[in-house]
Amino acid sequence: MSDWILVVDDDTSNLRMASHILTGEGMRVSCLKSGAEALKFLEKNIPNLILMDIHMPEMDGFETLNRIKEKEELANIPTIFLTADDDSETETKGLNIGAMDFIKKPFVAEVLLIRVRHTLELIRLQNSLEHEVELKTQEVVAHQKRIARMSTQIIQALSGAVDAKDTYTNGHSTRVAEYSKEIARRLGLSEQEQDNIYIMGLLHDVGKIGVSDSIINKPAKLTDEEYEEIKNHPVLGARILKNISEFPGLVTGARWHHERYDGKGYPDGLEGEDIPAEARIIAVADAYDAMTSRRSYRDVLPQERVRSEIAEGRGTQFDPEYADIVLAMIDEDTEYRLREL
Ligand SMILES: [Fe+2]
Repeated sequence: MSDWILVVDDDTSNLRMASHILTGEGMRVSCLKSGAEALKFLEKNIPNLILMDIHMPEMDGFETLNRIKEKEELANIPTIFLTADDDSETETKGLNIGAMDFIKKPFVAEVLLIRVRHTLELIRLQNSLEHEVELKTQEVVAHQKRIARMSTQIIQALSGAVDAKDTYTNGHSTRVAEYSKEIARRLGLSEQEQDNIYIMGLLHDVGKIGVSDSIINKPAKLTDEEYEEIKNHPVLGARILKNISEFPGLVTGARWHHERYDGKGYPDGLEGEDIPAEARIIAVADAYDAMTSRRSYRDVLPQERVRSEIAEGRGTQFDPEYADIVLAMIDEDTEYRLREL
């Protein structure tokens, strides 16, 4: 398709000459005699380039260009000023308001053509470059989303593998993740931090993969030896997760979710705020879910009993602030929905 040039000049002989030169090169040309006419024309037409005289009665070229630039849909049309002035002030002003170039009047046909061609070529390159960048950006974003989705799916699969090992903890990891995230939300942590805690919650028990099934699913009381093996799962979990170097915080939930606020937990006997906040959050969410889900030997505990256990553990087993948040969650949950259904 041929390029479409709008020429604006109050001098008819200039219009005629410009039109003659450009149409001779196969370009389509529209000629107008004032800034006002140009603005009206541009309401319905988008040419590829504007050639505009600076000195025109009523609305000069500067003002016309300013008005054109105010309109988003017109702002990118390249404009070249036609001027008989030969001073740098005029040029500076024109360039400042967004003109691409200047052509001195009276025109030399060759110069006019070269400047017009250059400008059109430049704009074409710029547009195709922008288009290219946009396409590439879309590809990169789509790729990133795919990777993020895949990471989430892999984490969920891993967490599902843990839960599948234990007949009586169906959905435990997901519920702990959800409760932990809710505690984080109520604490006012950022969305990113909430999401991190959710993932840590999903994988907090991943070390159980390394504990034998017969112990995990043993219906009878565990021997001391067996209990020691179970107690090894936080360390095993941390060992598994430390290989995920892209998410170094992941080990936190796995290693320290059985620590107690009073320092009597395992594996490291950390106390109070020496236990990372995420692990303290997961610890209370974990205990809450243990009581509100079914076991081989009992059903879900009554909500009142769960409440008193959490209140009892406040400041001993659990961080008091996080325990208070869970107590508030229980009090708001009048229909006892936060439990294994
Ligand atoms: Fe655990």
